[in-house]
Amino acid sequence: MRLAPQPSAQPLRLIVLLLFTTGVITSPVLSTGCPDRCVCDDQLVVQCAGQHLTTFPVNLPLATRQLIISNNRIVELPPLALNYLSDLVYLDCSNNSLTEISESTFGNLRKLAYLDLSFNTLTRIEDRTFGPLASLVMLRMTDNPGLSEIHPDAFEENAALQVLDVSRNNLTVLNITSLIALPALRSVGLSGNPWRCECENEDLCLSHLDHSPPCQTVCGSPSDMQGRRLGEVGIQLRTLCHQTLGSWDYLFFVVIGFVIFAAGTVSAWVMGVIMVLYERYIKKKDEQLDDEEETSDKGRTSRFFQVFPDLQVASMFSSNCEQKGEFSVLV
Ligand SMILES: *[C@@H]1O[C@H](CO)[C@@H](O)[C@H](O)[C@H]1NC(C)=O
Ligand SMILES: *[C@@H]1O[C@H](CO)[C@@H](O)[C@H](O)[C@H]1NC(C)=O
Ligand SMILES: *[C@@H]1O[C@H](CO)[C@@H](O)[C@H](O)[C@H]1NC(C)=O
Repeated sequence: MRLAPQPSAQPLRLIVLLLFTTGVITSPVLSTGCPDRCVCDDQLVVQCAGQHLTTFPVNLPLATRQLIISNNRIVELPPLALNYLSDLVYLDCSNNSLTEISESTFGNLRKLAYLDLSFNTLTRIEDRTFGPLASLVMLRMTDNPGLSEIHPDAFEENAALQVLDVSRNNLTVLNITSLIALPALRSVGLSGNPWRCECENEDLCLSHLDHSPPCQTVCGSPSDMQGRRLGEVGIQLRTLCHQTLGSWDYLFFVVIGFVIFAAGTVSAWVMGVIMVLYERYIKKKDEQLDDEEETSDKGRTSRFFQVFPDLQVASMFSSNCEQKGEFSVLV
């Protein structure tokens, strides 16, 4: 049995008495003393760490500002007992056996600035769990090996939140839509989770929110992404996730393709018809011209060569040379 050391309780009572007599404290704050196996000091700090507690300590001073119940085996935070402590600023519940935090657990802790839920066995965080914690600045929730689900809006109302650590849990997805909207947030720890590097996590990968030591925030799945850093796959995901086409897009392409094909076929047919007609027209015209020439020029030249037969060969030769000359100039 480890009881609170007697020497510290004595001065505490003295101080309480002193405070009462001087009228500094008017509420029945510290009159209830200190819980079993805990140490309470005059700064309203209640220290119950490592005392093999299995239940939440009872008989806590109502004005407790800091409560440390780490390194025990407490399985539940009773909402009723906790919500009496409306002045609580600091609550360390790390290294216990908490499996569930209900939506009413922190209902009245409006001054709470620091909350540590690390090293527990939490499995999921609901929508409204941290909602009432309007002053919460730092939330540590690491090393819960079964914690695989955090509601997208779990931190939506924690406008004062500056530091969030969810390292070394079993998280595969985290919707950061409401997280990145928090005005004061400056550091998030994401390392040691089996992140699924697919489109649903695109924002997370691109966010650069992570402030874990380098190279410890990596993808757990799919297999081709395994072990790669989140920041590194972000750009790849962005291209990958926005080139997917819906069935309407495919239908559109099929219709467009058909229209182009049909238009091409029709225009080719029309062109063909025009070409044939044009050729016929040209042929007809040529024939007419030839007929005319035969009756005029051709008759004259043949008669000319009949008169000077040697010249015909000479003229053929010269025209050949001219053609060759043209060709070589072209080359
Ligand atoms: C958790 O608490 C137990 C005692 O209950 C202690 O032995 C152990 O080292 C603590 N673990 C961590 C990680 O602090
Ligand atoms: C982590 O989550 C996966 C499913 O996403 C589950 O199969 C596994 O058992 C979980 N690990 C622990 C330690 O609970
Ligand atoms: C994230 O959560 C918001 C609601 O808080 C929702 O509108 C949004 O679609 C979610 N984003 C993803 C990628 O699931």
